[in-house]
Amino acid sequence: MRQFLLFLIFTILLASCSTPKPPDVGIIPQPNLLKKKDGVFEIRSSTKVYASQNPATQKVAKEFVRFIKDNYGLELKSVDKMGNNTIHFVRTLKDGVREGEYFLDISKKKIRIRSASDAGVFYGMQTLKQLLTPRSYFDKPVLSCVEIEDYPAFEWRGLMLDVSRHFFPKDSIKKILDILALHKMNRFHWHLTDGIGWRIQIDKYPLLTERGAWRVPVPEDAPWQQYETCRKGDPRGYYGGFYTKDDVREIVKYAAERYIDIIPEIEMPGHSEAALQCYPELQCIGAHNSGVYCAGNDKTFEFLQNVLVEVFDLFPFKYVHIGGDEVNKKYWLHCPRCRKRMKEEGLKTGEELQSYFIKRIEKFVHANGKMLIGWDEILEGGLPARASVMSWRGMKGGIEAAGTGHFVVMTPGSPCYFDHSQGLSVYEPDAWGGYNPLMKVYDFYPVPKELDIEGRRHILGAQGNLWTEKVATLKHAEYMILPRLSALSEVDWTAPENKNRERFIKKMDIHFDRLKELGYNYAESSFTPVDKVVYDKNRKAFVLTLSNELGLYDIRYTLDGTKPTLNSKLYTEPIVFTNPVNLYAVCFRKGVQAGYSLIREYSVKFSDKCTIKYKYPYDSSYNGGGDKALCDNKFALNRGDDKHWQGFKKNDFDVTIDLGEVAEISSVAVDFFQHLAATSVMLPVQVQIMISEDGKNYKTVLDKKYETIKDYKPVIKKTEATFPKQKVEYIHIIAKNRGVLPDWHIRKNTDAWLFVDEVMIR
Ligand code: ACM
Repeated sequence: MRQFLLFLIFTILLASCSTPKPPDVGIIPQPNLLKKKDGVFEIRSSTKVYASQNPATQKVAKEFVRFIKDNYGLELKSVDKMGNNTIHFVRTLKDGVREGEYFLDISKKKIRIRSASDAGVFYGMQTLKQLLTPRSYFDKPVLSCVEIEDYPAFEWRGLMLDVSRHFFPKDSIKKILDILALHKMNRFHWHLTDGIGWRIQIDKYPLLTERGAWRVPVPEDAPWQQYETCRKGDPRGYYGGFYTKDDVREIVKYAAERYIDIIPEIEMPGHSEAALQCYPELQCIGAHNSGVYCAGNDKTFEFLQNVLVEVFDLFPFKYVHIGGDEVNKKYWLHCPRCRKRMKEEGLKTGEELQSYFIKRIEKFVHANGKMLIGWDEILEGGLPARASVMSWRGMKGGIEAAGTGHFVVMTPGSPCYFDHSQGLSVYEPDAWGGYNPLMKVYDFYPVPKELDIEGRRHILGAQGNLWTEKVATLKHAEYMILPRLSALSEVDWTAPENKNRERFIKKMDIHFDRLKELGYNYAESSFTPVDKVVYDKNRKAFVLTLSNELGLYDIRYTLDGTKPTLNSKLYTEPIVFTNPVNLYAVCFRKGVQAGYSLIREYSVKFSDKCTIKYKYPYDSSYNGGGDKALCDNKFALNRGDDKHWQGFKKNDFDVTIDLGEVAEISSVAVDFFQHLAATSVMLPVQVQIMISEDGKNYKTVLDKKYETIKDYKPVIKKTEATFPKQKVEYIHIIAKNRGVLPDWHIRKNTDAWLFVDEVMIR
């Protein structure tokens, strides 16, 4: 008996050593039905792989065999019989009628993926791969037993990439398609043409890529302003690229193998500077480099139809995107040909002429067996009966279109524009205005409440858009796409009742490691510490709270401005201060810094006694939060849309601060802002700082002229006056506005703005 007991204990020990408990890894997007069962299945060298005889399923099984070989070094043998210790990829006739639906059953004896669609078998395999990653979490490929029944909530799970503003080579596109496939996304919207460059070979119009695909680089200029096309080899330099038809076919095939349909976008009637530099005769009479095709010229339609025929031929998917956004209609209204067209067709406005244009193109698209989709401006003047809409200027256009029986993809700027910043740090890469952090994407639901059941049925899904004016490399594109695409995938795949914020955040902690192992450059913006400071009147002290978006990971900090280490103070509760402090806070994930640092110099001389007198009022739209906002320890970011900036149009910044009591100080500093590329805000030309104890006799402690900084990136410039410690109650600051914007500015000869935020008195 004793021997038997020993044997039993030994066997149990051995069993628990040889089959370790699988780590909890989570799946993104969350499966719609997941039932945990007892037990585990271990993939061993003896495990077999069975796949149905159709080529698509065989291919999926082969990919899984490759995955196991590459990750776990096991060579799994294929068999043509179902059985135990076997992973089954089964294409059935009846399991799951919805497109993409799959069943994954992991039992102690076998694994079985079943689906009635090829896509479903593929998605089942993608789930299985996620259950075996991050690789570093596993000693062996051991899976917890589970039953998954899964299908997508929406049929359109998309990402748009703009390859016009910056060209992304073929291999970069493949990498992005891999990211989509990892997340079970199935639409890649390829923005192939725009003002800056034409990126697709069209045999009938070779100039489009001989010239339209290249531009003259102007290093000190913002890239999205470089409209001048040239030929490859231009002695002034040339920048750009395009896809040959073979490249396109290769990418379409690569996408199809990942069950991703590609929607090509050929922009019209606007955003077409590149094409019109090649074929200027297609512009309105009297227009130069307008970027808008003439709507009165039949040759325009002949050209676009010839282009589209070649495009139809390359892309098997039913949808073709024709742009339609942001058309400057003034050219049409001044063009005799367009005016003639309007008269003949009984069109009264530019919008109606635009509608005529889109309807004419739609007819052609439809006649060729395709479906037209366009940005929501195509609603203006009347939407073609069969057209579908991408709602980008909020949800309004989408609601209108879906409410009248059109199919709609929801891609509102907030939160679907992935070119917007995803973090609140001055170290974030330069991005357009707008702030679309990870969890704002997660919380999105593309079906508006305003719609009735029929209208809701017309919402195809949600799509993220990455415009690339400021994104020149694949690494940067990955940064903007990830992790927001992970959140979007759950928006698109997982029914809202099955979503769960807390669970998603926990899964993201693991998914970051998965993404890292796959070599993707995801953003850590959601780790970066952010501060919130309030003045507590009762305590006569400032209270500083630190947090990060996900609420995960340790934040460590110092208050002497030195870089924190793993031994620095752990943030656990608000920090109360009554003396100036220099905060340096970072977030540590698994022992290394994650996200950007937060570095701040807080001052304390401001209190409720303080008053500020303005010689010239600040602008009411850019009020920065009101009079006292100038020294409230709330710092504006390097973005023109940060509400903490106080703006002065044309006027100087001229204020006198009364501290309300005499204080001993030795420094006064002010932050100014400039962003040449996107705003009219420029740094001051001169700054003067004067101090006084009595408000009558002032001493100048700084008088400095500034050279213009011609940098297209956002700049925050701190201007500081330091002096021997002395008694001060009044501080007078004058910053000279440059008045009008210089000749080389995109908004030349219009009013310049001054943006001011924090006045730091220490
Ligand atoms: C757009 O962002 N102009 C569609």
